[in-house]
Amino acid sequence: MAAILNLFSTPLSVLRNWLVGLGGIAHLAMVGLGLLGGEGNFKAKLGAVLKQASTQRHLFAVLRAFVPNLLLSRQLVRSYENTGTALITRRQDVLDVLNRNDDFAVVYEPRMRKITEGENFFLGMQPGWPYTRDTSAMRLAARRTDVAELILPRAAAKTEEFVAASGGSIDLPQDLTLRVPYDMVATYFGTPGPSEREMIDWMTIMFWYLFSDLGADPEVERKAMAAATGGRAALDQTIAARKTNPTDSEDLINRCLALQTSGTPGMDDMGIRNNIIGLQIGAIPTISKACNHAMEELFNRPAELEGAQKAARAGDDHLLAQYIWEALRFNPHQPLIYRRALRDAVIAPSTLRRRTIPKDTMVMAVSLAATFDNLDIEDANSFRTDRAFDLYMTWGYGMHLCFGAAINRQIIPAILKPLLRQKNLRRAGEVERGETPFPQHFRLEFDPA
Ligand code: HEM
Repeated sequence: MAAILNLFSTPLSVLRNWLVGLGGIAHLAMVGLGLLGGEGNFKAKLGAVLKQASTQRHLFAVLRAFVPNLLLSRQLVRSYENTGTALITRRQDVLDVLNRNDDFAVVYEPRMRKITEGENFFLGMQPGWPYTRDTSAMRLAARRTDVAELILPRAAAKTEEFVAASGGSIDLPQDLTLRVPYDMVATYFGTPGPSEREMIDWMTIMFWYLFSDLGADPEVERKAMAAATGGRAALDQTIAARKTNPTDSEDLINRCLALQTSGTPGMDDMGIRNNIIGLQIGAIPTISKACNHAMEELFNRPAELEGAQKAARAGDDHLLAQYIWEALRFNPHQPLIYRRALRDAVIAPSTLRRRTIPKDTMVMAVSLAATFDNLDIEDANSFRTDRAFDLYMTWGYGMHLCFGAAINRQIIPAILKPLLRQKNLRRAGEVERGETPFPQHFRLEFDPA
């Protein structure tokens, strides 16, 4: 019986996929018409609209339905060597790309080496001893139990403090979502740097340079190199000071130094510096951007905002988190993850969408398309709070899945909960990114208790 039903349900699913694709075309046509009317420069307006996750989602729905593995001779990424671009949009194929490290490699090594002025960092590494050595040591230093015992209580207390200090008018990134992860870096990592402002700016520009500077802007490189010099010097100083004046703080610097004393490979002073700088860069701008994107999406959905607020007020942490992860599916931190083909590699063999990706092509594994693939995900275009967490790709997938995954899952709801509890929470402005990939300002107001 099931086999007979499958006979009908499979063509129906394919049909639905095409309908979603056609819906995408209609949406994009409406957006295009909207741009033709009104004032302002067409190119600038188009650029702004293409940056919006909702436009990208419809664009990728069209590709997923009609050209799921699109190959372009054009290089969309200038910052890392490649000969062209592939856009992969079906969920199964996106997961496949991120699983096949021997065919599709991480590209970040040259820029990682510029940041460290020497060695690679493990996000820039392929499978092998250096990757195993560094991730193993850092997993011993950053214990999973620290999230509940050290990170979460401190983040919750700092958030309460910052929200209370705002007096009902808060600039979300500047007053809260950059400050809480900075505090984690300062206290839990044990690396406060010269000042909060410098550390936030340094880590943000280095993240931009490594992952988001697709056009290879020389100004971004110049600023990132200056930040790297400052970041390395601050870490050298911290490590040396700890050796001269040991402390008993439960932080990553002390844990790494204990591993050094025990002769753990990769934990000499330079190894500690390289590993910690990679973690610092990963931690601050990302958590902030994710918090702002989740709030932006909730504000665009009054019913869901109300649901999230009710969950926050009722102390239903699971439901609150479900609202946040779903908001981030619609408005993610990043729409895709890129890899480079190490050899001519076939995607989706034995299917009609089979495609050979030529060696050196930059392969975009479009997570924003994968998490809306209605052939694999039930009711993919609806905002639902009952989805399994494994469906999300908010912080990557596969071997390089975010090192901070367990932290993110706790700290993001902890940062947003005290805010969502507030009475008459309202937007007093839009998310302002300026010319950067990060939310710079997002003014919110509420009625203080
Ligand atoms: C919401 C916050 C965050 C987001 C959205 C995020 C996103 C990501 C993504 C997409 C990747 C995979 C990149 C790739 O495969 O090319 C990744 C990896 C990584 N992230 Fe995060 N991240 C976040 C927070 C953090 C935090 C808090 C830390 C540090 C504690 C961190 C450290 C890292 C590291 C070290 C890797 C490399 C893992 C590996 O190569 O095995 N991230 N992150």
